[in-house]
Amino acid sequence: MRQVGRRAPGLGQAGWALRWLRARACRRGALLVALLWLLTWLFLSGLLFVHRSMFSDFCTDDKSRKILQRVCDEYQQGVLTGDLCEDLCVGGHVEYKRCLYYENGKKVMAASWRGVPIVLKSKLENFSSYEALALLEYQDTVGGAGIEEELSPLDVVFYATLEIKNSLGLEAGTNLTLPQFWSESLREREQAYSRAELASLWALLQQEEYTFLRVMQDLTDHVAKVLGSCGHFYAVEYLAAGHAWDQNIFPLEELSVSLSQSPRGKPERTLTEMDMVHRVALSFLDMVGHFENDFSHHLHLCDIKPENFAVRKDLTVAAIDVDMAFFEPKMQDILEQNCTNDNDCNFFDCISKCDTRRNKCGSKRINSNLQVICEKIFRSWFSPTLLGDKAGCPLQVELQQAVQDCAETENGEDTEHSQATWLRLQGLLTQLIQEESANQQSQKQARGPHHVHTALNF
Ligand SMILES: Nc1ncnc2c1ncn2[C@@H]1O[C@H](COP(=O)(O)OP(=O)(O)OP(=O)(O)O)[C@@H](O)[C@H]1O
Ligand SMILES: *[C@@H]1O[C@H](CO)[C@@H](O)[C@H](O)[C@H]1NC(C)=O
Ligand SMILES: *[C@@H]1O[C@H](CO)[C@@H](O)[C@H](O)[C@H]1NC(C)=O
Ligand SMILES: *[C@@H]1O[C@H](CO)[C@@H](O)[C@H](O)[C@H]1NC(C)=O
Repeated sequence: MRQVGRRAPGLGQAGWALRWLRARACRRGALLVALLWLLTWLFLSGLLFVHRSMFSDFCTDDKSRKILQRVCDEYQQGVLTGDLCEDLCVGGHVEYKRCLYYENGKKVMAASWRGVPIVLKSKLENFSSYEALALLEYQDTVGGAGIEEELSPLDVVFYATLEIKNSLGLEAGTNLTLPQFWSESLREREQAYSRAELASLWALLQQEEYTFLRVMQDLTDHVAKVLGSCGHFYAVEYLAAGHAWDQNIFPLEELSVSLSQSPRGKPERTLTEMDMVHRVALSFLDMVGHFENDFSHHLHLCDIKPENFAVRKDLTVAAIDVDMAFFEPKMQDILEQNCTNDNDCNFFDCISKCDTRRNKCGSKRINSNLQVICEKIFRSWFSPTLLGDKAGCPLQVELQQAVQDCAETENGEDTEHSQATWLRLQGLLTQLIQEESANQQSQKQARGPHHVHTALNF
């Protein structure tokens, strides 16, 4: 009884406390809701304002379609042309997918051309925004016969070459020749160029990225391929770019599927992700070698980051953003600045030293493509912390050490040292790939033919 009697007032007290708490909670809740509502309203209207003011050039599918429609209208009017136009405007073989990037007038959209994923690009939205070919205008004012009779294909080659040299920052004195097959196909033409062809070529040549990619096409695999063009828009192969947050940098999981499929659909040899990383790294080295030795001028990459490179299905590396790629003469031009200390001589990833007597930066870059690739790409693959238990593998440890050395020495001027670093990395990667291949062979025999390796192997 005592217990019950005691419990009753206790219950009453607890009940009162509960009611009091509930009321308080209710008032608090109401206040909270009001506050939340206010905050949401402020946030949304702020967002709308920011959106309206900052992203007035924001990418929408509607705008993209209108832009492409204008290209096609002008194609039909005979203003512009290109090998992509027929499929884009008449055949319906180019399917717009989504826009990727709209900034400062630059338009980049993803599409599919006869089933092949492509990226359509133009530096400016409208064809008319590009500078017209002065020769065409001259013909107009003189009112003479059509340009067709005046300009021979050879003239076109000549003007195009001048424009390309100018755009790539090569002096008139250097012997840049147009890529062999391009100049030959231009020269071997029987009939002269139409107005639309000339105007389109001219609009394309005003886009440094197009010019650069077009010149590099036949010289190296390590840039995105240009597949075609219509007016001022050009099509580039669609490639999945790298990401700094991805541990493998590139989406290798997706590639592994296609690699493991032999033509007969049977998995022949599945590459582990680490093996793929080694092959991609080897391709980076191959690219560095090409850019150093294959052209009459050394090619400098001044913006090296995962986002600016992509990997194809065959694990070759391609540069997809070449806005910051410069041949030696232009590089020297860029680096030669007034300075008071070395910090003034850093141009993104391309650096030189300040000559404090002359207060001028040296014109020679002191670091190299290889050094920056080691620092910004290889180091995230081959760093001791990530490898963990594989640290016991002597080749891996040696590779980590080689990458570390490569990243830390600015070997731009010392070509001998640079060459040695390159060879050391190349040797180690080749050995690791061979080792992996031998390992898999023996594992396959041990586990029977049906086993498929998908797990990470490090
Ligand atoms: N070949 C390609 N394949 C897939 N996506 C691409 C390709 N080229 C460009 N993109 C995408 O379009 C975006 C913009 O393209 P691009 O890099 O040419 O523009 P940009 O003005 O040079 O940009 P940034 O500010 O990165 O220099 C890139 O961030 C990339 O995601
Ligand atoms: C492109 O042309 C369209 C139609 O002629 C025009 O409305 C638009 O403002 C132009 N865009 C630019 C950037 O010049
Ligand atoms: C350029 O051409 C000249 C002859 O026309 C040749 O002597 C010279 O070596 C060439 N230079 C380069 C860098 O190829
Ligand atoms: C660099 O310095 C020189 C001489 O000190 C000066 O004439 C020139 O204008 C400077 N250039 C720039 C871009 O500041």
